[in-house]
Amino acid sequence: MSTVAEIDLSTEAKHADVETPLARPVIQLDHIHKIYTMGDVEVHALRGVSLTIREGEFVAIMGASGSGKSTMMNIIGCLDRPSRGAYILDGQDVSELSKDERADIRNRKIGFVFQGFNLLSRTSALENVELPMLYAGVEGAERRRRALDALASVGLAGREQNHPNQLSGGQQQRVAVARALVNQPALILADEPTGNLDSRTSVEVMEIFQRLNREHGITLILVTHEPDIAEYAKRIIVFKDGRIKRDELVADQRDAAEELRNLPEIVDEEED
Ligand SMILES: Nc1ncnc2c1ncn2[C@@H]1O[C@H](COP(=O)(O)OP(=O)(O)OP(=O)(O)O)[C@@H](O)[C@H]1O
Ligand SMILES: [Mg+2]
Repeated sequence: MSTVAEIDLSTEAKHADVETPLARPVIQLDHIHKIYTMGDVEVHALRGVSLTIREGEFVAIMGASGSGKSTMMNIIGCLDRPSRGAYILDGQDVSELSKDERADIRNRKIGFVFQGFNLLSRTSALENVELPMLYAGVEGAERRRRALDALASVGLAGREQNHPNQLSGGQQQRVAVARALVNQPALILADEPTGNLDSRTSVEVMEIFQRLNREHGITLILVTHEPDIAEYAKRIIVFKDGRIKRDELVADQRDAAEELRNLPEIVDEEED
């Protein structure tokens, strides 16, 4: 990544340190169950998941298709509620909140990155990144300034006016990462963020995540099917049949920035 502008996230999570066992819990799940009811059929997607994730952690979630990963991410992201069990987010019990209250928490505390990028196709990269701040009531000039900073921090200075269809997959995902950042979230959730990307572009996206985690202390949770990608995280949790099957620290964390330095440069096809 050529452009590495600093984005000011100093108000949040700056002093996170996962090495300290006393880092503040950001997520506490206590015996979470999720049962989907479809007509007469019940699907027990989560069967008693208990988990603590602390400030400054970088966690990869793995497990077979249907094991409950996205269900758990939706609960952690306050997009859905558990059927049973308690969820404390950043010290606040969110298991019983209304839809509107959850939307408010999402907007203030959580940034989302999805496999399919989920950008608005008819608006520029800049406007896509400004959108969460519009919802949060951030004033116009400040909105623009923060969006420009966030785009620069993911190496997209100069591409602000491009629409998603004028950007490569990796660039679109970087816009999505910038959008996830602008409200200075305590937590970023990414569900298979590299699922649609080639391998070099995947490493580029992981480099951004590692930088956000290391330099800004942002807590990150990422779902992936790829063991290679999971090794950029500090901790890997494996799901099986709605339960946690394994939960381990990564002994030898990969370093995306270093790997990129050793990969041959690819010239951006849209470069002037
Ligand atoms: N909205 C829903 N309604 C009914 N059942 C659902 C719903 N969402 C998920 N499920 C079921 O819950 C179980 C867990 O699904 P989930 O999407 O969490 O799996 P996953 O681990 O994310 O899988 P994948 O790797 O394929 O994305 C599956 O059996 C799935 O069919
Ligand atoms: Mg899923």
